[in-house]
Amino acid sequence: MQTAQFLPAWLYCEPYIAELEYELYAKRCWHPIAACSELRAGQALALELLGVPLLLTRPEAGEIRVFLNRCPHRGVALLDTDRSARDCRRLVCPYHGWTYDLYGRLRAAAREGDFLEPFHRSDWPLKELRCKEEGPLIWVALGDDPLPLEQQLDLVISEAGNLWRQPRKLLARRRLPLACNWKLAHDNTLDDYHVAIAHPTTLHREQGPVRAYRHVLSRHGSLLATPTGEKGTFFTFGLVPWTHLLLWPDGRLAVLHVVPELGPATRDPQALSRSQMEVWLLSPVPSPALNAEPPLEQIADAAPGRAELEMAELWMAEMLRFLEEDRCLVEATQRGYRSGLEPGPAHRLEQRILQWQTLYAEWMDLESPLAKAPPRSQEAIAALISSKSATG
Ligand code: FES
Ligand SMILES: [Fe+2]
Repeated sequence: MQTAQFLPAWLYCEPYIAELEYELYAKRCWHPIAACSELRAGQALALELLGVPLLLTRPEAGEIRVFLNRCPHRGVALLDTDRSARDCRRLVCPYHGWTYDLYGRLRAAAREGDFLEPFHRSDWPLKELRCKEEGPLIWVALGDDPLPLEQQLDLVISEAGNLWRQPRKLLARRRLPLACNWKLAHDNTLDDYHVAIAHPTTLHREQGPVRAYRHVLSRHGSLLATPTGEKGTFFTFGLVPWTHLLLWPDGRLAVLHVVPELGPATRDPQALSRSQMEVWLLSPVPSPALNAEPPLEQIADAAPGRAELEMAELWMAEMLRFLEEDRCLVEATQRGYRSGLEPGPAHRLEQRILQWQTLYAEWMDLESPLAKAPPRSQEAIAALISSKSATG
């Protein structure tokens, strides 16, 4: 059931909540980590998700795979994390030369006959994680038992299925640092109460009059649909864990996701007050009906042309204008929360925030006596994580 109150301020300010969020919240979700168009057959791409080094591969004759970018011998990364896909048939560890194929199988190790104990290549594959392509994006789960991806994307599929599944190519990507907890940036991007006031000449123009707003809520997501005259509907989806999809009637897609500093690699007490907003811009590729030659895959794979890049530059500039307006507000909210404020009443146009916060509270077990107030010790946090893991 949806609550009528915002989450308490301590959840945005206490450093140790990050560890709980990684274990109890982030690991239950799928994370978009790249556009499908970024990785062609026979390529590999290294990147990070919540401090976890990942290696994506697309074998010539197989589906996309994702592995830990960590050699099982001594842990060295097999590829540098520079976000550029490269052609490769083999992944060779730069330390002692263990060599893997794009399916993560160990194919060779240097001086293989001289290991001190019996050595079998099949005992040393790369550690594989769950990965799916859905719509124009590649999704990865860090936990063993994530929510089914179709449930996470239920509203996108039911409300905009054909538009969503259109092939697209990535045109541009940017990151904007924010001095606030990730939840404030996520709350704000779900907040339909502030748009007319805070973004009168930017997002408000895109979304149109507030009286025409249509909301749809599901268990794991929410939608703000706004009519854009003759052209169709502009969709703004808010999804767990911290992802927003803006879908224009002409097929353009902007992915906005907050990048928190959570996870096993984060022990910095200041990390809870830092996050980044990442923006990806994707444009549809022409319909196959209009382009019998060349095949659609080639169009999707082609590098963006000059006109597309110019369009992307203008589009990104527009996005950054409203995100900069938001940055000032969310950073001010963080200062307010830090100063001891408890949030006030929620408005009807803030219902998407409440819908998400209700799910967050459930997953974080905020009804339990331990979590009603901030747990103060590492022992208490460990107890809460293990009790939740034990009960699933
Ligand atoms: S760390 Fe990779 S081969 Fe030794
Ligand atoms: Fe905003």
